[in-house]
Amino acid sequence: MANIILVGSQWGDEGKGKVVDIYTEFADVVIRFQGGGNAGHTIVIGDQQIILHQIPSGICHPDKLCIIGNGMVLDLETLVEEIELLRKNGYFFDDSQLLISEEVHLVMPYHRLLDVGKEKKAGDKKIGTTGRGIGPAYADKINRTGIRFIDLFDENVFREKLEINLAEKNPYLANQLDQPECNGNELFEKFTALGENLKPHLTNTSVTINRLIQEGKNILFEGAQGALLDIDHGTYPYVTSSSTTAGAACTGCGIGPTKIDGVVGIVKAYSTRVGEGPFPTEQHNEIGERLQEHGKEFGATTGRPRRCGWIDTVVLRHAVRVNGLTSLALTKLDVLSGMEKIKICRAYRIDGCEVAEFPANIQKVADSAPVYEEVEGWNQDISAVRRNEDLPSAAKNYINVLQELLGVEFILISVGAKRDGTILLKNPFTLERI
Ligand code: IMP
Repeated sequence: MANIILVGSQWGDEGKGKVVDIYTEFADVVIRFQGGGNAGHTIVIGDQQIILHQIPSGICHPDKLCIIGNGMVLDLETLVEEIELLRKNGYFFDDSQLLISEEVHLVMPYHRLLDVGKEKKAGDKKIGTTGRGIGPAYADKINRTGIRFIDLFDENVFREKLEINLAEKNPYLANQLDQPECNGNELFEKFTALGENLKPHLTNTSVTINRLIQEGKNILFEGAQGALLDIDHGTYPYVTSSSTTAGAACTGCGIGPTKIDGVVGIVKAYSTRVGEGPFPTEQHNEIGERLQEHGKEFGATTGRPRRCGWIDTVVLRHAVRVNGLTSLALTKLDVLSGMEKIKICRAYRIDGCEVAEFPANIQKVADSAPVYEEVEGWNQDISAVRRNEDLPSAAKNYINVLQELLGVEFILISVGAKRDGTILLKNPFTLERI
């Protein structure tokens, strides 16, 4: 009887896939509302690892409905591959388990070529994108030249939109970016066929979601990326091209903010970032290497090594504020086991002053010196712990210090990649103790 949004509180890769998979037990419906194939949400069930890019992470629960909202940018070619992979792994045999918004904008092959070509051309000024065409697809949406899923079913509209886009993009691809041109007829044939193939999933998802809300279903809105990659509130321009914060769930699904009951922020027990951009607590030393190795910090979408560092509560307080977080889930706490001391960044020193709020000027962020609080580490392997009271006192203290600095409580602690590597403290929908 509640609708909650789940978002990343750092630079993405906080472990949202696992938490969504667990929270799906309590939900009836799981909905993605922004981003696209740039996301890589990992779920581990037994010895099986599944990485989802566009399909909501609730899909491995056969009795739950999953929805791709209008706010995403959808790559139909890789969506079909994702569906095939799920079926090979024994999931998603009932087409009615997935609904897709008629209004969702499509990532076309020329968006991927533009993304890759622009990054190459930018040299050391590159953003470090995932190369999935996300930025160019959102740019077309805002420019009002994007192709929406519904357009595939009107031959004239689709042909005209393709013509307009290719007349603009092909010369740019060939002459400026040294990338191949796209053939309009080939794209028309391919995407018309993809549209027909995926048509059973297509609907007015805003109507469906509002009806489900009225029926009193528990709905989980699954964010992708993280607050510091948000187009408005992140380390611009080193961000993704969508709103990754909680407000996007409303515009990205066609529901009103009055329908939202809570926002859960996913917090990794340390910080990571893929791609370029400032990262004050980054550790270019054996601490960073250890976190990368123990945390298996390699991108789920691109395989790139993630930059690693200490947890940063300046970043996290920013995430609490811009998302209105009402509770938190702490992930990968087990990765910190065996560290003698653990550092928590509580402020930045910039131009001789202590600063508690995340600055808008990213040069200031890059030049800042983190002000750390140091707490004791713990030696015990905590991956088999299932109750809060069984955690070592130093781990409990780490959680308490974070809670105090952030002013929001943790309702889940993750101590391993698998579903059962979890200390569930509260039901995210009712906030009742478990
Ligand atoms: P784009 O979203 O592919 O345009 O990439 C823009 C920036 O966001 C790059 O720094 C990417 O590494 C980062 N990014 C995009 N998606 C994710 C994600 O799911 N996890 C972590 N970083 C991401």
